[in-house]
Amino acid sequence: MSWKAACAVTDVEDQKFKLFDVEGVPILIAKLGDEWRAYPPVCPHMEEPLMESGICSKGVLTCTKHLWQWDMLTGEAQGPAERPMLMYEAKQEGDQVMVLVEQELDYDDDDDDDDY
Ligand code: FES
Repeated sequence: MSWKAACAVTDVEDQKFKLFDVEGVPILIAKLGDEWRAYPPVCPHMEEPLMESGICSKGVLTCTKHLWQWDMLTGEAQGPAERPMLMYEAKQEGDQVMVLVEQELDYDDDDDDDDY
């Protein structure tokens, strides 16, 4: 397990996220005030790309496909969402955003039925 540099702190605007390739792993990096968060780049519902379908507003991420929502700080499901978001650990180190990547997080890994 190791911390990897994802981007510069100036690369992401506050209350927004952006997609980065972190040594071959696609990761969305979000800035929420002084906090950094890192998520897989797809919706937990049907794996829609969140760069296209995701909207950030007031710390809440909404996937516009079926309006599932999550608290961006905790990844917790809100409203109609039935699954939380997976998250990588993220932190600021100097002017870099670092992400702890043990393996690529994937929504298929933790549930293989088709109820969602
Ligand atoms: S694909 Fe994102 S809410 Fe359904």
